[in-house]
Amino acid sequence: MHDQLKQEHMSLQFQVQWFDEVDSTNTRLLEQARLDTALPSGTVWAARTQTEGRGRMDRKWVSSSSGNLLFSLYHRTTAGLFRLPSLTMAMSIAIDEMLHHFNIYSNLKWPNDIQVNGRKIAGLLAERAGDDGVVLGVGLNVNMTADKIAQIDQPATSLRNETGVEWDVAETLQILLTKHLPLWLARWDANGFSGLRERWIEGCGGLHTPVAVRDGVNRIQGTLAGFGENGELLLRLPDGMVQTIWAGDVVTP
Ligand code: BTN
Repeated sequence: MHDQLKQEHMSLQFQVQWFDEVDSTNTRLLEQARLDTALPSGTVWAARTQTEGRGRMDRKWVSSSSGNLLFSLYHRTTAGLFRLPSLTMAMSIAIDEMLHHFNIYSNLKWPNDIQVNGRKIAGLLAERAGDDGVVLGVGLNVNMTADKIAQIDQPATSLRNETGVEWDVAETLQILLTKHLPLWLARWDANGFSGLRERWIEGCGGLHTPVAVRDGVNRIQGTLAGFGENGELLLRLPDGMVQTIWAGDVVTP
């Protein structure tokens, strides 16, 4: 690894604050970033319970008191709006890598889900905070039990569901922030999506695999041709043309 990048990632620090209950850690931290223009990059707000957790595309993120990891990170960056989606990809890779260290064989699902055997274990929500910051929210299902999982409107799982044991939620966050996130965040800061491309492709199952993308009402099918410089998905259509997909969800082909 390049020496300078090594030093930068060693020096990345996070300041973690825990709350018993908030409406949404993203909403709270966005508000804090607005009120405090000197909010340090690396501020992390985590909650034991969220009453109004938010997901992408105005969906709800339900986790009530299931012992899941719910947190938001404030990261200072002047990267333009089009570059932000790839920041969530850096966080996804860090989580994927941590799960692999726990012997849970997760994979990445574009643009920002992490799955285990087709079931969602984590989701991410990035929101612009002023001109020079972003709030990156993470929901990782840690101790959610099978009965709670069954109430979710899509296939889901949790660390506990995969391993049969209870996990320490705060320790899981600490491991992510100390062992896995610094390197991928430093790579993103230095090179944007180019610093992630190889690992992302490996984590999402490789090039030329069949992929279907749902973009609102449309469902487009093809094979994975690659990713553009900001992490946009390049889909090879049956006629050989490559279509660039900026937003949507990869679904089972
Ligand atoms: C998704 O998959 O749609 C994204 C889910 C993001 C949920 C997390 S939980 C912590 C943070 N606070 C929120 O309100 N949302 C994010």
